[in-house]
Amino acid sequence: MLKVVVLISGGGSNLRALLQATEDPGYPARVIAIGADRDADGLGLAEEFGIPSFTVPFTNFATREEWAAELVRQIRVWQPDLVVLSGFMRLLPPSAVEALTPNLINTHPAYLPEFPGAHAVRDAFAAGVTETGASIIVVDNGVDSGPIIAQQRVPVLPGDTETTLHERIKVVERTLLVQTVRDIADGALALETLT
Ligand code: GAR
Repeated sequence: MLKVVVLISGGGSNLRALLQATEDPGYPARVIAIGADRDADGLGLAEEFGIPSFTVPFTNFATREEWAAELVRQIRVWQPDLVVLSGFMRLLPPSAVEALTPNLINTHPAYLPEFPGAHAVRDAFAAGVTETGASIIVVDNGVDSGPIIAQQRVPVLPGDTETTLHERIKVVERTLLVQTVRDIADGALALETLT
């Protein structure tokens, strides 16, 4: 059974989809802990699903390095096979990426390498594109520049707002995330061959 730690900053709707998938006894992964960099709304899912959680507030540390060292320490307590950044909005410094790679993946609401960064949906919307997408990547030291594991196109529809577009992207992200974690757990996907 693949042991997964998921890191969030926000509502955790993609995390919820993964947690629901793990309720199937046949699903080959379990979320063993949920971490956050702030008092994220999605931490409520830890209680709802009976999973331990930890918070390492970015603002409690003098430097990004110190914050990340504590975050990695707390992740390692759980000895996970995989760490998923699921709406985790802080950039990890190279020291943290190196500590966790290649078993560190990120979901992103765009068809990378298009629209990297923290405002992918807003940027796609502002660019006036007719389609964007969703991607799952291995995290490297760049901003959303790691090897692409899975991705799918999502249309931008007439009348879309940033919110409606993001919701449509997230539906796709959830499917990609649940399938990617399954593939890693089944051995159908070997992250070390991608990095
Ligand atoms: C998701 O769309 C995820 O891809 C995005 O934040 C959202 C989290 O939603 N992540 C990034 O933009 C990272 N650059 P959720 O909290 O409802 O799962």
